[in-house]
Amino acid sequence: MPRRLLWKILAGYVVVILPLAAYSAVLSGREGGSPGFFALARLASVSLAALSGVLLSASVTREIRGLSRYLGGLFERFHEPPPVVESKDELERAASKAKLLADRILLTMDMLRDEKEKVGAVIEQMEDGVALMNSKTEIILHNEAFTKMLDVRRGSDFTGVPIREVVRNPSLLGAIDSYAAAGNTVRREMAAGAGAHISVIITPFRQDLPQKRALLILHDITQQKKIERMRADFVANASHELKTPLTAISGFVETLVDGSVADPETAGQFLAIIQKHVERLSRLVDDLLTLSDMELGREKLEYSEMTPESVINGVEQFFLKTAQNTGISISREVAPDVGVLRADRDKLTQILLNLVDNAIKYTPRGGSVALKCRRVSVSPGTVAAFAYPSLDGNPILPETGEGWRRDFVEFCVADTGEGIPEKSLPRLMERFYRVDNARSRERGGTGLGLSIVKHILISHGGSIRIESELGRGTAISFIIPA
Ligand SMILES: Nc1ncnc2c1ncn2[C@@H]1O[C@H](COP(=O)(O)OP(=O)(O)OP(=O)(O)O)[C@@H](O)[C@H]1O
Ligand SMILES: [Mg+2]
Repeated sequence: MPRRLLWKILAGYVVVILPLAAYSAVLSGREGGSPGFFALARLASVSLAALSGVLLSASVTREIRGLSRYLGGLFERFHEPPPVVESKDELERAASKAKLLADRILLTMDMLRDEKEKVGAVIEQMEDGVALMNSKTEIILHNEAFTKMLDVRRGSDFTGVPIREVVRNPSLLGAIDSYAAAGNTVRREMAAGAGAHISVIITPFRQDLPQKRALLILHDITQQKKIERMRADFVANASHELKTPLTAISGFVETLVDGSVADPETAGQFLAIIQKHVERLSRLVDDLLTLSDMELGREKLEYSEMTPESVINGVEQFFLKTAQNTGISISREVAPDVGVLRADRDKLTQILLNLVDNAIKYTPRGGSVALKCRRVSVSPGTVAAFAYPSLDGNPILPETGEGWRRDFVEFCVADTGEGIPEKSLPRLMERFYRVDNARSRERGGTGLGLSIVKHILISHGGSIRIESELGRGTAISFIIPA
């Protein structure tokens, strides 16, 4: 029998039986009462006590059973069936359920704390800036990227601070005001200083919750904007480059068709000019197709083993006549231990043709062009001295620990020409970039040569380095894995 029930029966006994016993004692003392009366009184008192005990016990048992059912029901909130406790004692069953429930709650609290830490870490690691605001536009939560992207004091905690006190960007403040006025999702793109661009989304957060909150997400779109601008520039540049020879061709053709040129010699000169422009047009279209094939990864490389010398021979041969005509001497210096390399022969030749073509084109009469080639072996200790930049963001020299080394063949084309201004060096491999547009065009250049070189080097896992001094000359070196 439950202990609490015993206590209740005892209490009933004290409350009912003792007064009755006392009463009967008084009666017996005063009147010397009859034994039948006492027996009856005792029976009545015992029955009354038993009845009150049974009634009390039934009510307590009902309460405990209800509590036990309620506790069992709470397990459903955890998507678990109520536990089965083996005991005949209601109170003991309820106590066991309460204990199991407490354990379950503690476990759930641990899990929630763990989840909260994980979500917090993810938000903190995100590259996007994230902030949560309440209905008074106070910041409830934010990550470091948020403050970093808005260029406010880095690493500071702005929890509880009105967002208008943190944000200085007028466009973002405008977006916050628009959201506050309408309560609908607001999307904006804006400049964020130092050439950076960000996109902003302010959107209602968990509309099912009673508190009105808004989520603010900042995404860096600087790179995307740069690509868009490059694409637009490319279309403008390509159209311009195509239009120049086309305008010339159509002008000369029109004159010839008119019949206004009667003299066959002049007509012949016109046709020669047309031919020159057609050739330029055709080279331009070829270069554009080569570039787009390489950028889309459609160009297949055909690797074979070769000596660098054999490639240099072909290139030298190709420019022999041009060099003679322009009064430029070409020399070569190939290290005896250069060995062999694996590359796409045509592509490697194309790189050297472009570089030597530039060297001759931008070197005045009487100058010289030197072609050099050597083998370089790189280990972790010499990586730093081997200062070739990565062309596509991937390291060309991964450090893979002790004992690691990699062999490259390094080619260099050095001239004694006009040189390149320092500020132009970072842009030299952009499509259509020319230091002096008019001068380059007059020499037949379209500004695509070095961008093709860059793509061939990327596909070979190589790199390029340009050193130049105005008025003294330029040295362009490139490496290809041996
Ligand atoms: N050796 C060099 N000396 C001086 N300037 C150079 C040299 N090489 C390249 N440049 C400069 O870099 C620019 C880009 O070179 P790139 O080879 O890409 O184009 P291009 O020679 O003008 O045209 P293309 O090669 O398409 O016929 C050139 O216009 C020129 O201004
Ligand atoms: Mg060129």
